[in-house]
Amino acid sequence: MDILEAMQRRHSVRQYRDMPLSTEVKERLQQEIDACNREGDLHLQLVTDEPGAFSGAMARYGRFSGVQNYIAVAGKKAPDLNERAGYYGERIVLLAQQLGLNTCWVALTFSKRKARFTLGEGEKLVLVIALGYGVHPGAPHRSKPMSQLVRCDGPMPDWFRRGAEYAMLAPTAVNQQKFLLELLDGNTVRATAPRVGYAPLDLGIIKYHFEQAAGPDRFTWA
Ligand SMILES: Cc1cc2nc3c(=O)[nH]c(=O)nc-3n(C[C@H](O)[C@H](O)[C@H](O)COP(=O)(O)O)c2cc1C
Repeated sequence: MDILEAMQRRHSVRQYRDMPLSTEVKERLQQEIDACNREGDLHLQLVTDEPGAFSGAMARYGRFSGVQNYIAVAGKKAPDLNERAGYYGERIVLLAQQLGLNTCWVALTFSKRKARFTLGEGEKLVLVIALGYGVHPGAPHRSKPMSQLVRCDGPMPDWFRRGAEYAMLAPTAVNQQKFLLELLDGNTVRATAPRVGYAPLDLGIIKYHFEQAAGPDRFTWA
């Protein structure tokens, strides 16, 4: 499965089968997590065989079941921490999809108190990403029309349209899709989102999808 197919097939899954991750899958995820931590200056942690974080009232309220594995997304407090968390977290989400796993970004409906993770000096937990073998593959979300999410004066180049289409497939908190992608000139793209709530984290996710689909060499971020 290539990355475009992974973006098409990825949907949030909240119910998981009782099936542990194999050693090979754990090693491949850990390799990518190490790379993301280095490149993104983050502290992502793979936590396996740990049902506690998804066993309380919040997880039940969120209709989660069978979650035994998750990625704790943490990093040093910084103005751009959420955007980096989104960008690199989604890189792991899409690798997980390619490895046959399902995922769900979870900011609220889990127990932070029961979750297992470590924090270094000045770090904080941003959220977690549940992962494992889903009981179903999930379902596509409803999307706003492209006209509300994209601004492009003049004819839209194919690479920009493709980037925008795949950005529309990206997960966002409560499916809010509060982002705007603008083609400023021949090959400069501006991606913006309100600086409130989880919109900056969504923006990091959106930018990863856009880059992968448009091709990182086709454009530069404004
Ligand atoms: C930053 C962020 C936080 C999220 N937090 C939660 C959460 O606390 N509980 C939950 O059930 N889903 C959560 N989600 C999943 C979204 O509801 C989901 O991505 C959105 O509805 C789009 O659906 P899709 O992922 O299937 O495409 C979160 C997603 C993101 C990106």
